[in-house]
Amino acid sequence: MKEACIDTSNIPRLVLGSGQSIPAIGMGTFGSDKYGAAEVQAAVAGGIRTGYRLFDCAPVYGNEDRIGAVFEEALASGEVKREELFIISKVWNDMHGRGDVLVSLAKSLRDLKLDYVDCYFVHWPFPNYHAPGCDGNARNPNSVPFSADKFMDLWTQMERIAGMGLATYIGMCNMTIPKLEAVLPRCTIKPAMLEMEQHPSFQQQELFEYCKSRGIAVIGYCPIGSPNRPERDRACGDVADTELPEITAIARARGIHPALVCLKWAIQRPSIPIPFSVHEKNYLSNLTAVSGDPLSSAEMEAIRGAERNCRLVKGQVFLWPGARGWEDLWDLDGTITR
Ligand SMILES: NC(=O)c1ccc[n+]([C@@H]2O[C@H](COP(=O)([O-])OP(=O)(O)OC[C@H]3O[C@@H](n4cnc5c(N)ncnc54)[C@H](OP(=O)(O)O)[C@@H]3O)[C@@H](O)[C@H]2O)c1
Repeated sequence: MKEACIDTSNIPRLVLGSGQSIPAIGMGTFGSDKYGAAEVQAAVAGGIRTGYRLFDCAPVYGNEDRIGAVFEEALASGEVKREELFIISKVWNDMHGRGDVLVSLAKSLRDLKLDYVDCYFVHWPFPNYHAPGCDGNARNPNSVPFSADKFMDLWTQMERIAGMGLATYIGMCNMTIPKLEAVLPRCTIKPAMLEMEQHPSFQQQELFEYCKSRGIAVIGYCPIGSPNRPERDRACGDVADTELPEITAIARARGIHPALVCLKWAIQRPSIPIPFSVHEKNYLSNLTAVSGDPLSSAEMEAIRGAERNCRLVKGQVFLWPGARGWEDLWDLDGTITR
C-alpha cells in the first residue's frame, strides 16, 4: 500500500454525536464554474495521495462520475480502504419530490462507484431549481418559500435511505435557526451534520453554538472566503478574509499564508473546513497547516474580532416571486420568511 504524503494519524479528527471520529478537514469539489471536471478529478486523486480522506461532493458540481473513477482506482489498488474515507454527497433542489431522493442518491452512488455515502445532505432547504452556471440575476418563477411540511416530506425520504444503509449519516445545508427549530422536533433521525458557510468574516456564531449544543457537527464551506467564487456570488461590499488585518497579522507573525490561518481557526473552533484547490502546493499546505502547530487562545480571540457579517453565498437565485431580496432566504428577523 502507498503511504500518503502526510502521516494521516497527525490529521485532526472530530468526534460525531455517534462517537465515530472522522477527519476534521476535507477537500471541496465545486469547481466554482471555473475549474472543469478533469481538473477536480486530478485534485481528488492528488488529495488522496496527500492524505485527504473526507471529500465534499454533490451532483450539481457536475463531476461525481470523474471523482468516482478516482475512488474506484484508489480502493482497487489498496491506496486507501473504504472505511478510511468519509464521502459526502447531496440531493439537489430539483430532486425533492416523492421518491426522488432514492433516485438521486442511486445516481450519485453509481457515479461515485460506492455502495454507500458516509453522509447525504439536503443541499438547500427549498425545491428551487437553478441551472448550474446560471447568472446571478436568474430567477425561477416556480420558486417557493420554505415550508416545514414540504421539508419534512423530503427529510422522511432522507431517513428512509439512512434506514436502507445507503447513507451512514444524513445532514442539512444552508439552514437557519428558525428553520431548524421548525423541523428538528419532527425528525425521527436528527441531522448528524450541518454544512454552512463559515469563514472568519462570517462566523455564524449563534448557529454554530446552536449546532454544538445539539450534537450536530458543523462543516464549514468557503473556509478561505472563496476567492475564486462565481460571479453570481460576488457583491460590492464583500470582504476578502485573506486580507483582513486580524488574519494577516497572525499570518505575518507565523510566516504562513493567510488562508492557512483561516483553516487552523476553523479546525480549532471546532468544525470541519472543506477547502477547495486544484493546485497541489495549496491543498498540500492546507493539510500540513492543520496537522501542525495550533493557534494560541489569544490568536483565536483575535480572529473572533474578524467577524464582519459578510455572507458570500447569498443564494438570491433561489428567491421566489414576491421575495424582497436575498435576506429573505436567511430569516434575519428570527422568524421564517414566507
Ligand atoms: N453546501 C453548499 O451549499 C456549498 C456552497 C459552497 C461551497 N461548498 C463546498 O465548499 C467547498 C469550498 O468552498 P469554495 O471552494 O467556494 O471556497 P474556499 O475553499 O474558501 O476557497 C477556494 C479557493 O481558495 C484558494 N486556495 C485554497 N487553498 C489555498 C492556499 N493554501 N493558499 C491560497 N489560496 C488557496 C483556491 O485557489 P486555487 O484553486 O487557485 O488554489 C480556491 O479557488 C466547495 O468546493 C464545495 O465543496 C458547499
